[in-house]
Amino acid sequence: MLPLLGLILALLCRAPLIGGSWEDPGQSEAAVLSIQLPEQPAREVNPFFLSLTIDANLATDPRFITFLGSTKLRTLARGLSPGFVRFGGTKTDFLIFDPEEKPTAEEEVCQNLLAKQDAADVCGFRSTPMDVIEQLQSQWPFQEMVILWEESRKRPRNTTITRSTVDILYDFARCANLHLIFGLNALLRRGNQWDSSNAQLILNYTESQNYDMDWELGNEPNSFRKKSGIYIDGSQLGQDFIQLRQLLDSYSSYRNAKLYGPDVGQPRKHTQKLLRSFLKSGGKVIDSVTWHHYYLNGRTATREDFLSPDVLDTFITAVQEELQLVDDTVPGKKVWLGETSSAYGGGAPQLSNTYLAGFMWLDKLGLSAKLGIDVVMRQVLFGAGSYHLVNASFEPLPDYWLSLVYKKLVGAKVLHVNLSGEDPRRLRVYLHCTNEHQSVQLNGYVLKMLDDEILPTLREKPLSPGSRLALPAFSYGFYVIRNAKVRACI
Ligand SMILES: *[C@@H]1O[C@H](CO)[C@@H](O)[C@H](O)[C@H]1NC(C)=O
Ligand SMILES: *[C@@H]1O[C@H](CO)[C@@H](O)[C@H](O)[C@H]1NC(C)=O
Ligand SMILES: *[C@@H]1O[C@H](CO)[C@@H](O)[C@H](O)[C@H]1NC(C)=O
Repeated sequence: MLPLLGLILALLCRAPLIGGSWEDPGQSEAAVLSIQLPEQPAREVNPFFLSLTIDANLATDPRFITFLGSTKLRTLARGLSPGFVRFGGTKTDFLIFDPEEKPTAEEEVCQNLLAKQDAADVCGFRSTPMDVIEQLQSQWPFQEMVILWEESRKRPRNTTITRSTVDILYDFARCANLHLIFGLNALLRRGNQWDSSNAQLILNYTESQNYDMDWELGNEPNSFRKKSGIYIDGSQLGQDFIQLRQLLDSYSSYRNAKLYGPDVGQPRKHTQKLLRSFLKSGGKVIDSVTWHHYYLNGRTATREDFLSPDVLDTFITAVQEELQLVDDTVPGKKVWLGETSSAYGGGAPQLSNTYLAGFMWLDKLGLSAKLGIDVVMRQVLFGAGSYHLVNASFEPLPDYWLSLVYKKLVGAKVLHVNLSGEDPRRLRVYLHCTNEHQSVQLNGYVLKMLDDEILPTLREKPLSPGSRLALPAFSYGFYVIRNAKVRACI
């Protein structure tokens, strides 16, 4: 039997004690909280449950895609594998592929290195040279401002991407052991219909390179009018997805490739209507329904918001509404968070990149698994704004380490728990069976990389049987119950 894994978030001013006897909760003494363990897992999430995104805005100036050739970034990304990496975002609908266009000088350096290596080489050898990375890093603060400014404007401009852009992106995903999901531009139109000719150019190219990847079409179609002046209703978008599915079926490499969508924003009224008519018209051709979630606006979010159970609980309603809608229209279809983070608009400065963000991130993972979301794609692994897991100096931030520990410890089987003794909104507990592939744990050591290619070992801090787990106020942690004889985890 596998041990159990508890994910615990304490939004309390007092330090809570958790425990008593795990095998016989009735016997627990003055524990603040006791937990009843069920016999059966409530559900099982996707093995790629915790997944990642790279925002398509990294290609606003395609030179910066070359960042993805960094050895250190690839090592960090590989730490969070296996999983999906979704390349998408607002810029998805403003990228035009031109196979004839020359790569940028930076891309060319990367490209030449790629060409010199044969496929058997370790990914590290194909990485972008340090001097190129450093030069890009020095220009990044300005580029980041450009990206965030463009995103906040009504209408982004079109950008041309090249074969190199696609190669570097694919190579990053492959080296990091992540499966690439590429968002195609839905705003290329011929009359009322989607114009697939640019997508064909991409598919012709990626097939010629034997690239194994999955696809999306468009990003947040609910705000197409605002972003481009083009309005596409749900039913037409569904037809566009059918057209894309037929196109994919015409390529032997992509007949079995998956198609996800429609990457709608939060389920407010107008968006719900769009999603419903989309699913009725195109639901049969998508493999999972994707939607996006942010708790807050990054410009106005406060520290108190990040610690508020009320704010955390807004996610519950959003998920329930989404699942209900999908259940009404395409019952049984998996639901994914295709893009999600603490605050939109690039995150909340000095909050989304700190320890505080961990409450939202862990609670979102816990609730998603418990409520029935199959995959959660974190915005972003690396890129503009403050909600990244790895910053522009390629330093992993607190949410990176939480994701790493989560990935190593938390298994796909989810258990429902009955809690008693404390306000469950302020002491939030999620239980999973542990990850079958892992036996090491954490504790008390500062997690940092040994060098660009080596991630640290996670060390555990054992507690003697029957002892209780004491958690500091306003903190979170992972707790492995080794001898939890639960049948659910057989
Ligand atoms: C949790 O509580 C509900 C309602 O009281 C009960 O039906 C269920 O059996 C309990 N589950 C466990 C694991 O004790
Ligand atoms: C893609 O390749 C097919 C098969 O070679 C070709 O018929 C088609 O014209 C190409 N599409 C574009 C847009 O170049
Ligand atoms: C990245 O994070 C590290 C560690 O928190 C910090 O020292 C560094 O200044 C950050 N870099 C940037 C560009 O923000």
